[in-house]
Amino acid sequence: MTDPTFADVVRTRCSTRHFLATAVDPRQIQGILEDAQRAPSNCNTQPWQVHIVSGRSREAVSEAMLEAADRQAYSPDFSWDDAAYTGVLGERRQEQGKTYYQALGIAKDDREARVKAWRDNLRFFGAPHAAFLFMPEVGDGVRVASDIGMYAQTFLLSLTSRGLVGVPQTLLGMFADPVREVLGIGSEMKLLFGISFGYEDVSGLSARVRMERAPLAESVQFHD
Ligand SMILES: Cc1cc2nc3c(=O)[nH]c(=O)nc-3n(C[C@H](O)[C@H](O)[C@H](O)COP(=O)(O)O)c2cc1C
Repeated sequence: MTDPTFADVVRTRCSTRHFLATAVDPRQIQGILEDAQRAPSNCNTQPWQVHIVSGRSREAVSEAMLEAADRQAYSPDFSWDDAAYTGVLGERRQEQGKTYYQALGIAKDDREARVKAWRDNLRFFGAPHAAFLFMPEVGDGVRVASDIGMYAQTFLLSLTSRGLVGVPQTLLGMFADPVREVLGIGSEMKLLFGISFGYEDVSGLSARVRMERAPLAESVQFHD
């Protein structure tokens, strides 16, 4: 089999939320991290601090997040506000939710099933590994957060190129305090989001949710 082209990798990557329990070979994980380390950053500052959880630490972090969720003890380092997504962004956000819940076969008013799907985030959707992406506080954080985004996309494309899958999860960032506590991380490091990753369970209902993209004209303007 020939290696996938760059276009193949970019176009086949998608967020997968059904994983096999099969662990990824540590050498593969090392390779993914080496790839992601090549991400560009402002002034080459490379501000990412990445914590990979597997095995017992994965269990412990998941349990701590679920326990905090039961108490509604959210501790995000960065705000999230659904209502801040207005206009076309709000429409796209709603479309994403609709497509996702339809793929899972969950009705709009089925609160119990929606809560379960939400909590599955905190179980890493069954993935055997997760990467927690931490960053130092620098100014208003926007520049450093953009570097972390560069890192995350490189990480995700590396997964795809190796026949693996992942899903970035802001929800994992809603429980920064318990994650820091379990992993022994100081409060000066801020949690932006996490990425669950591993092998895809193709039997999963939502394993193949394909999210469309807006036409280029909605995003790009050419100026001569
Ligand atoms: C920074 C970031 C945070 C995200 N957070 C979540 C999340 O908490 N839970 C989730 O199921 N998906 C999450 N997603 C996945 C998006 O829903 C997904 O990327 C988007 O719908 C486009 O689909 P695709 O990744 O399959 O192309 C996140 C994506 C990004 C980039």
